[in-house]
Amino acid sequence: MSTTGSADQAGSARGIDSTLVENRLFPPRDAAESGFARWHVGSMAEYRALHRRSVEDPEGFWREEAARLNWFRPFTRVLEWSAPDAKWFTGGTLNACHNCVDRHVESGFGETVALVWEGEPVGGPWGAGPEVRRLTYRELMIETGRCANALRALGVTRGDVVTIYMPMVPELAVAVLACARLGAAHSVIFGGFAPHAIAERAADAGSRVIVTADGGYRRGEIVPLLANVDEGVRALANQGHVVNHVLVLDRVGASARGDAFRSGEARIGPTRYHWWRDAVGGASGACPCAEMDSEDMLFLLYTSGSTGKPKGILHTTGGYLAFVQMTARLTFNLAPDAGQLFWCSADVGWITGHSYVLYGPLMNRVTTLMYEGAPNFPRQDRFWDIIARHGVTQFYTAPTAIRTFMKWGDELPAGHDLSSLRLLGTVGEPINPEAWMWYHRHIGRERCPVVDTYWQTETGGHVVTPLPGAIGTKPGSCTLPMPGIDAAIVNERGEELPPNRGGLFVIRRPWPGMLRGVYGNRERFVSNYWGRVKDPATGAPFYFSADGARRDTDGYFWIQGRIDDVIKVSGHLLGTMEVESALVSHPAVAEAAVVGVPHDIKGSAIVAFVTLRPAWLAREGRAADDALKKELGAHVAREVGALARPEQVRFAEGLPKTRSGKIMRRLLRDVAAGVEKITQDTTTLEDFSVVARLRDDEE
Ligand code: WT7
Repeated sequence: MSTTGSADQAGSARGIDSTLVENRLFPPRDAAESGFARWHVGSMAEYRALHRRSVEDPEGFWREEAARLNWFRPFTRVLEWSAPDAKWFTGGTLNACHNCVDRHVESGFGETVALVWEGEPVGGPWGAGPEVRRLTYRELMIETGRCANALRALGVTRGDVVTIYMPMVPELAVAVLACARLGAAHSVIFGGFAPHAIAERAADAGSRVIVTADGGYRRGEIVPLLANVDEGVRALANQGHVVNHVLVLDRVGASARGDAFRSGEARIGPTRYHWWRDAVGGASGACPCAEMDSEDMLFLLYTSGSTGKPKGILHTTGGYLAFVQMTARLTFNLAPDAGQLFWCSADVGWITGHSYVLYGPLMNRVTTLMYEGAPNFPRQDRFWDIIARHGVTQFYTAPTAIRTFMKWGDELPAGHDLSSLRLLGTVGEPINPEAWMWYHRHIGRERCPVVDTYWQTETGGHVVTPLPGAIGTKPGSCTLPMPGIDAAIVNERGEELPPNRGGLFVIRRPWPGMLRGVYGNRERFVSNYWGRVKDPATGAPFYFSADGARRDTDGYFWIQGRIDDVIKVSGHLLGTMEVESALVSHPAVAEAAVVGVPHDIKGSAIVAFVTLRPAWLAREGRAADDALKKELGAHVAREVGALARPEQVRFAEGLPKTRSGKIMRRLLRDVAAGVEKITQDTTTLEDFSVVARLRDDEE
């Protein structure tokens, strides 16, 4: 094995700021050893030169990257920057769908496969194997054209926001790209979210059209997407927000059953419903791509923040596309006509799915694989089966999934031919070195580089990541900044910190993929991202990611995690406030405080401390018991979504608060993690008063 000790660390890293010490270094290999013809960036010297150029001459650097896109009208300026507002590639016009699809057809690659899709169900009506569909770039062009015409017929025009709540099926890709084709923005909501979450996001975005499906398959069961949309539409109507149309894909056969409706029917209040089959199937496939300004909105994607209300992260067209085509190409070494089949297992409901299931690979004219279902259906080796059957070359997944695979056992991947793999990636949370090593050995068979990509919904694409042919990797580190990204670890005064000191992760200059706003909330955009750290020399704001991190003596970044009130559960962000407000909306609950605790598989898990309303308990004849805990867990799942369901609900006499009335979250975290034992541990109600008093001045 190519493990060498790095000269770095050991003693120095073992300071108060960092606990993780990892000495292994895996140098980059020859492209051929991993199965590539060549690396885009093939040496550390080349990476350094590229990065240096990108910060010394950012406009020249980004002008060249943007030139890889197809512009209807060329841009006249690379960047107009008036912090925190950036305008990239102004004067230029383009279309995102055209860049992902049409231009490849126009340049003679219409018969290249754009999308390989595999459904979850196997057996029964599906026969021996799963359902597999392949769409060429030409077919994708025609389908997006049909869908765009159907959306237009439902009144969608440029600048509108279309809400999409669908399973991982080809029609989801078609709907997203169809919005882009029309010049409408898409707002995709992950299929695991609850009706309340759909309503909240659709109202915030002012969406009048929702695209959904009757259901989706997940772990052999049907997710009731249409029923959730119905409930969301009803909730919206009660708030006076009318959804004009719901477009429904028939995925699980509802149209053939009793709950069928006729296309065009007003089903809930004045909201009309349409079957995809009729509205899209009956539309013409010819639909020109709208000519959009570089800074026109491409999409909104809602993400959790430290208030109860999710933020609509706004991305625009030219900058996002330029950044995503580059990061996808460099991080995954994507190349057209090189037999690559790229699989990112994320749901399109997250930014990872936007940038690296759809836009990134398609802009690079690589075939992207999309899988509908769960990794353990029908068996726990489904992913390895997919990789082997389709010949996946680059595979990108989350640390939480890797830890789950480890638990399921080495025999499962060992039983499959994974020799098609050339590169592996991870995303979403820090990866623990054990999981990294397991991935490297058991999936990559010590042949494939592992790229640990650090980024956010807000950054649009990778900001710190190894470039596989250039940057040696250390398990647990996302390594070095992407060309064009001026990343640093600073203190509260914006001063860059020396190696191995923990600090704030900031980006000091604008980059094309950066968010342009929080939809409808200027104040939140400015204060969340630009209000915390300034350049000590000029006073100009730095972008702050809300992550704590350090760099080692090689300059490698080690992300330590969020410093705000959000928790990453299985790689998904959840605001503590969102979960708390769901809890207090239950009549039994007086007060709630939610904290994250370390969890072997999920990274962190949610523990909820709850004080109850005695009057309600008495009236309902209920007690502070396990049944009530379960009910509260189910209530959160119903209000927010299953991934927000607390791992543990604990009842407390009262919540520990400082003299100024702030909940002592650090104390709760210690209690939840078992670090601190509370003194009077009655069987049901916990009493924090004593520990709280002891700790009062610390928080
Ligand atoms: C947060 C952003 C990035 C797309 C999917 C999640 C954490 C993400 C890593 C990584 C350490 C990571 C950060 C970040 N994170 N990738 N490779 N190493 N931490 O997007 O939901 O916007 O979450 O995920 O805490 O701030 P997101």
